[in-house]
Amino acid sequence: GTHTKIAGDLLAHYDLHARRLPWRAPPGSNAADPYRVWLSEVMLQQTTVAAVIPYFTKFTERWPTVDALAGAQDADLMAAWAGLGYYARARNLLACARVVAADHGGAFPSTEEGLRALPGIGDYTAAAVAAIAFGHSAVVVDANVERVVARLFAIETPLPAARPEIRAAAGRITPDSRAGDFAQAMMDLGATICTPRNPACGICPLREDCAAFRTADPAAFPVRLAKKPR
Ligand code: ADE
Repeated sequence: GTHTKIAGDLLAHYDLHARRLPWRAPPGSNAADPYRVWLSEVMLQQTTVAAVIPYFTKFTERWPTVDALAGAQDADLMAAWAGLGYYARARNLLACARVVAADHGGAFPSTEEGLRALPGIGDYTAAAVAAIAFGHSAVVVDANVERVVARLFAIETPLPAARPEIRAAAGRITPDSRAGDFAQAMMDLGATICTPRNPACGICPLREDCAAFRTADPAAFPVRLAKKPR
């Protein structure tokens, strides 16, 4: 990445303020367990952090490794998933665990390409696991990160057309080292400070790096096409 100041400012803040979530390794270590990272990212896809935590704890106590999960009965897994919703995720979870156990000796592939080949793993999850579990400098963009990046660069193009521009800008600020911490720091920033409405710019570690902060209305980014009046 070229904008090293942004990553540096964000990582310094993360070292002090990272949310202590059960799937995270301590900041600065690259030792996150790929199984726990993958499981958490699948659970977090359409579900909030607060709702995921008790399920994540229950799953990892009952099935501490991907090999253990691969040996679960379908009905037991579906029962443990009950309440999280989007049950296709649970079926893909078990299919993925069985492929990793049977075809990869219980070790997740470390590249985005290898991860994307697994059941239920799309672009976002592949990038997140590659960065968080394996330290690869993958570009991890979810809806929170999209908003943070649109604000940092005051991107005027409306969503969804802005997506390629936002992804390219995210790539330019992704550091070569600590990419997993960087990805999670961007997620934390979007969830807790750079919120959709009333962002807390007064306590934001990227305030002086942020083009939207220098405008009259930082929350106006990302720009969305006005809804047609009806
Ligand atoms: N949302 C999706 N993945 C996350 C993570 N690793 N930490 C916090 N929020 C997330």
